[in-house]
Amino acid sequence: MDVQRIGVVGLGAMGAGIAQVATEAGFDVVGREVTADLGDAATARIGHFLTRKVEKGQRTEEERAAAMSRLTTTTDLSGLADCDLVVEAIVEELGAKRELFEELERVCRPDAVLATNTSALSVTEIAAATTSPERVVGMHFFNPAPLMPLVEVVRAELSSDDAVATALGVVERLGKVAVPCHDTPGFVVNRILIPLLNDCVRALDEARVTPEALDAAMTNGAGWPMGPCTLVDLVGIDVHVHASEALYEKLREPRMAPPPRLVAMRNAGLLGRKSGRGFYTYT
Ligand code: 3HC
Repeated sequence: MDVQRIGVVGLGAMGAGIAQVATEAGFDVVGREVTADLGDAATARIGHFLTRKVEKGQRTEEERAAAMSRLTTTTDLSGLADCDLVVEAIVEELGAKRELFEELERVCRPDAVLATNTSALSVTEIAAATTSPERVVGMHFFNPAPLMPLVEVVRAELSSDDAVATALGVVERLGKVAVPCHDTPGFVVNRILIPLLNDCVRALDEARVTPEALDAAMTNGAGWPMGPCTLVDLVGIDVHVHASEALYEKLREPRMAPPPRLVAMRNAGLLGRKSGRGFYTYT
């Protein structure tokens, strides 16, 4: 399908990033948030990052203005009725996602492709909430979405070739790198990255080093662009713990289980950058 208009449901860090990438690539974008204030905050966030690009000479003011004019937000799901593709980026809860996909099926055109940005839930189980699972795929962006080139395009049990091809075509137009894969727990990257980050957190306690020291070890000794504690803070400790639990539930490998230290941090509201405090403190 020739996609012109993309809907993004949930404009948190991931959804706002996806909306930014899509509007920069020339798509019309409709973002849906539960309140107008949250929609405005996401628009302001996108505006801020595009302004930085203008200041750094990476975009012209006209390009920024054009990108912002292609972006609208709504609190009403039926605002997505004209979209060719909808990307869901709401909370990582199977029940909430299934409910949303049921509603999306009601409000969207029958030929629209419905994609989930889930990190570790089963796309097949999300698709099963609809009566047209063939049009459901995974489009898994990485945090921060505007900077990370990869999008995993996930074929669920009943995804049609057309839906997968549409998602792959959009990823290409976004200027990103697509890795098509099947719907297995954690897909490709999180299947490897989540247990690896869990090992890093366990090493923190076993080797009795500080987060700063562990980050210095992995950036200077393994060439990581950012250290594991900085990365978990960026991803969000709640998101990481949830992904670990989802993988552990499916695969039963001890390394997948979230380290108790991370669970305690999540329960204490130390969620990383988004809450102002995780391994590090953010102002
Ligand atoms: N959204 C939009 N734009 C952003 C942004 C964001 N969240 N964060 C930064 N930018 C923009 C800013 O304008 C910034 O410039 P400025 O500071 O001058 O305003 C510009 O991008 C460059 O930012 P940085 O200087 O921070 O960029 P770096 O060159 O240092 O690279 C990085 C940052 C790409 C994040 C790099 O450190 C990196 O690759 N880190 C690893 C990230 C990673 O592994 N992500 C995957 C996480 S796992 C995941 O997402 C899966 C999930 O399912 C859990």
